[in-house]
Amino acid sequence: MKIAIYPGSFDPITNGHLDILERAITLFDKVVITIARNSSKNPLFTEEERLQLIREAVKKHKQVEVDSFEGLLVDYARKKNATAVVRGLRAISDFEYEMQMALMNRKLNPDVQTVFLMPNERYTYLNSSIVREISRLGGDVNDFVPKVVKQALDKKFKVK
Ligand code: COA
Repeated sequence: MKIAIYPGSFDPITNGHLDILERAITLFDKVVITIARNSSKNPLFTEEERLQLIREAVKKHKQVEVDSFEGLLVDYARKKNATAVVRGLRAISDFEYEMQMALMNRKLNPDVQTVFLMPNERYTYLNSSIVREISRLGGDVNDFVPKVVKQALDKKFKVK
């Protein structure tokens, strides 16, 4: 059974993340989408809220597990018997940081490969900060996030 980990902050999960996840499903028997606890980020949604939003957004995919973790990604991958880490590459600007992480992870655990997938081009300019910002300022994020996330954003920013 080929298992991959798809890690991130997912604050909140966007259609760009779902696009990557759906591509990953075609390559692996199981994909674990997992929230990395990161004390240097100050998330809008709590970990539990983010987990709940992801669960709702991916519920039709039976081969997807939703989880969170603390510590090194490669240790987590080992614990989950995963052989790959999936990351999305939206633009050249993602590449340098992603390559650094991929090479460091390979150094830490040579048994785990990083697989880069490119989302549909309509998501290349998307990230969670932009979604949070547009939503906070009353803009329309319907095209960028699943319905459940749109509702959660409206609730956070008290939109009627
Ligand atoms: N569509 C839309 N947005 C996307 C996206 C996609 N396909 N892929 C990434 N993004 C956005 C995210 O929304 C996020 O936006 P934001 O910064 O505006 O909130 C941004 O790109 C960063 O992406 P994310 O996937 O959340 O990565 P991260 O940098 O927060 O976390 C980890 C990267 C979790 C993989 C890394 O921190 C990690 O491995 N942590 C564990 C500790 C560890 O092992 N460290 C050593 C690593 S060598």
